[in-house]
Amino acid sequence: MNTDAATTPWALATEAVHAGREDLAALGVHAVPLDLSTTYPSYDSRGEAARIDAFAATGARPDGPPVYSRLDNPTTARFEDALARLEGAESAVAFASGMAALSAVLLARASAGLRHVVAVRPLYGCSDHLLNAGLLGTEVTWVDPAGIADAIRPDTGLVIVETPANPTLAEVDIRAVAQSCGSVPLLVDNTFATPVLQRPVEHGARIVLHSATKYLGGHGDVLGGVVACDEEFARLLRQVRFATGGVLHPLAGYLLLRGLSTLPVRMRAASATAAELARRLAADPRVARVHYPKLGGAMVAFEVYGDPHAVIGGVRLITPAVSLGSVDSLIQHPASISHRIVAEGDRRSSGVSDRLLRMSAGLEDVEDLWRDLCEALSAAGAARPVSSPVPAPAPVPVPVPPHGRDAAARQASPAAR
Ligand SMILES: Cc1ncc(COP(=O)(O)O)c(C=O)c1O
Repeated sequence: MNTDAATTPWALATEAVHAGREDLAALGVHAVPLDLSTTYPSYDSRGEAARIDAFAATGARPDGPPVYSRLDNPTTARFEDALARLEGAESAVAFASGMAALSAVLLARASAGLRHVVAVRPLYGCSDHLLNAGLLGTEVTWVDPAGIADAIRPDTGLVIVETPANPTLAEVDIRAVAQSCGSVPLLVDNTFATPVLQRPVEHGARIVLHSATKYLGGHGDVLGGVVACDEEFARLLRQVRFATGGVLHPLAGYLLLRGLSTLPVRMRAASATAAELARRLAADPRVARVHYPKLGGAMVAFEVYGDPHAVIGGVRLITPAVSLGSVDSLIQHPASISHRIVAEGDRRSSGVSDRLLRMSAGLEDVEDLWRDLCEALSAAGAARPVSSPVPAPAPVPVPVPPHGRDAAARQASPAAR
């Protein structure tokens, strides 16, 4: 297969099933080899010393046989190559979890003396906590997107946004934010959109982070994280990963690579379901407000008039659990779980109301999901007071943007958003 993306770009759906597997036919295998070795025998210690020296000096992925799996693993490398291609980035570096990935980025910047971070709320609760508590010795300034340029200082090493954000699905204009960052790298957490809906590098982000635990894996059975970026920053991240040890397990790398192959199909199907649920929820008198991104996507959030805990207790088909991006639908109460660790005042001021529920649409039939939601909403009791004005309808969900080689061009066009 021709993999020269510069001359013959493959569509994203094609990359999803072929990237990271280009050599399989030559190897005479069809499934990706899973290498579980922690160490690699070698009678050539001079050669190993040279590979270790080269890695210490540059952070480039070692050439030749691997030495030790905290340094390099061939199965994980396949997942990294595939994800980099899907994100349109030069490189990708995988980690044990999304939080390990974020930690490595912060450590890489702090090691250059750049300990100040500018961030836009809301972020996933634990990302917020990591920054706000300064657990890695960083200092954060929270701003609205319009305040980014003014908040940047000489020691600012990073600007962080999530779009659509967890859990309110608030969106930021990546291109505009990237411009306000000047020379400071912009990190976009692309967990909710995935490269199927949005490729932040094309809009000026230098670093793209995923909790791979979510849509990339797609089946709720892998914990992982990954950063897509330029090779220069990837080299630093590999050195931090080697020294701090937050590596992805090779079996997780195998499962994540397999997950990527169905990512476009899963995202399209689940997004259509989420859009339809958003439309129905917006018309439901038991629902005060619906949050659904203009970009589309498989997440929908909504605020209820009644008791949100009763909705969680009332679902039968939808799984009442934190996390998202699985083939089955999940629902959770952010103020109790995903954002519990964020101080109440910070939660509320970033739009995370106590009545907010966050649902991750899976691949079930939409009518079955709606029946389950309706029954759970009835359990929650209250509906819109008769005297209250009917809330503004949720934005009309747009079809999921086409994926593939022309997705970026269409995404940039307002008509497609
Ligand atoms: C948007 C986002 N970023 C990062 C993370 C952290 O990822 P992980 O749980 O894989 O460490 C999460 C987890 O929910 C998330 O939702």
